[in-house]
Amino acid sequence: MNFSLTEEQLAVKEAAREFAQKELKPGVIERDSKMEFPKEQVRAMGELGFLGIMVDPKYGGSGMDTMSYVLAMEEISKVDNSCSVTMSVNNSLVCWGIETFGTEEQKQKYLPKLATGEWIGSFCLSEPEAGSDATMQRTTAVDMGDHYLLNGTKNWITSGGSSSVHLVIAQTNPEKKHRGINAFIVETSWDGVVVGAKEDKLGIRSSDTHTIMYTDVKVPKENRIGEDGFGFKFAMKTLSGGRIGIASQALGIAGGAYELALAYSKEREAFGKPISQHQAIAFKLAKMATDIEAAKMMVYRAAWLKDNGMDYSQASAMAKLYASEVAMKHTVEAVQIHGGYGFVKEYHVERLMRDAKITQIYEGTSEVQQIVISRGVLKGDVYLPVGEN
Ligand code: CAA
Repeated sequence: MNFSLTEEQLAVKEAAREFAQKELKPGVIERDSKMEFPKEQVRAMGELGFLGIMVDPKYGGSGMDTMSYVLAMEEISKVDNSCSVTMSVNNSLVCWGIETFGTEEQKQKYLPKLATGEWIGSFCLSEPEAGSDATMQRTTAVDMGDHYLLNGTKNWITSGGSSSVHLVIAQTNPEKKHRGINAFIVETSWDGVVVGAKEDKLGIRSSDTHTIMYTDVKVPKENRIGEDGFGFKFAMKTLSGGRIGIASQALGIAGGAYELALAYSKEREAFGKPISQHQAIAFKLAKMATDIEAAKMMVYRAAWLKDNGMDYSQASAMAKLYASEVAMKHTVEAVQIHGGYGFVKEYHVERLMRDAKITQIYEGTSEVQQIVISRGVLKGDVYLPVGEN
């Protein structure tokens, strides 16, 4: 086993940390309270190469591995999760989906803009009645010969009001059930794409979450991804990698809360000494550090499996399930360590606690991750040790 990072991975982690602490932290409380989309900050992330971190340089990306993506996500998520979810969806759902399953024409047309942040992408799977049960697509894409006619409504779409490209999952052949579903690249400037109101959310408040309506949108045939009927598998395969991104977001949230709680506990005095010197607080910090290290191993391992061409769908489900639990539990503890200060917005930890909740919901709820994991467990798929088992 080798736990060391390469020089390139360490440099990405350092660059992301510096960017998050210097550029994102100063305005994050105000953006959260005003639900203001971090437009300038997202543009800067594009310039720094964070929006197409794994995309091949020939399509305008940074050409780095999944591990580098995870490290950058972790550092940015310690500070601003509206930025990191925008980054995660753009990288591991939209760019990865197009680069892995798109045609050469689709890659050349869309990736250079998406990888540099000139355009932002959204992943449009969820519907009013198709959340966890993603096969129940009501959005239809009727085959009209030279194009598809797209009609339907998508819910809770990340970057919905600011994206230029949507990957839309829709039903073409209902009699074939999930095997009749297709995935399409849709440009938001096309006639019939309407963006609904921005959602007023508990956490990640400045990320741009909207309902999207499609009415008689003409989608050219060449914008379908993969063979006819590949759409559901496309969504599942793409989400397996996306879950590594959200797991790293959860890891960053937990790590950010831990760093704040540790620093505060060394400064704040009670009963004549820093509160870190009281066992009640020191033991909380010990448990936080232990759980975060365990989550880190799972998230990094999922990234390592992906980088090494191995099956990672169960590892990513496990990493997301566990890291999001750790994020929720220990952001609550970080607020507790801060006492009254933890309950006010000025101290950042209450925001991280609110942000943590969504990591247990989007890109598959914790219950969906357990469906994926339990099916694998019953099939006998176990991952440790890696190799023959
Ligand atoms: N890779 C490849 N294929 C897969 C797969 C995977 N990881 N998972 C399933 N499939 C295939 C199956 O092999 C099967 O194929 P066949 O028909 O050829 O046999 C097909 O897909 C259907 O699979 P299941 O029978 O397992 O499907 P199911 O109806 O039981 O659903 C589920 C399984 C795991 C619950 C799935 O519906 C699911 O993941 N739901 C959650 C959806 C989700 O994550 N939504 C998040 C929205 S996106 C978002 O949040 C983005 C954002 O903006 C932040």
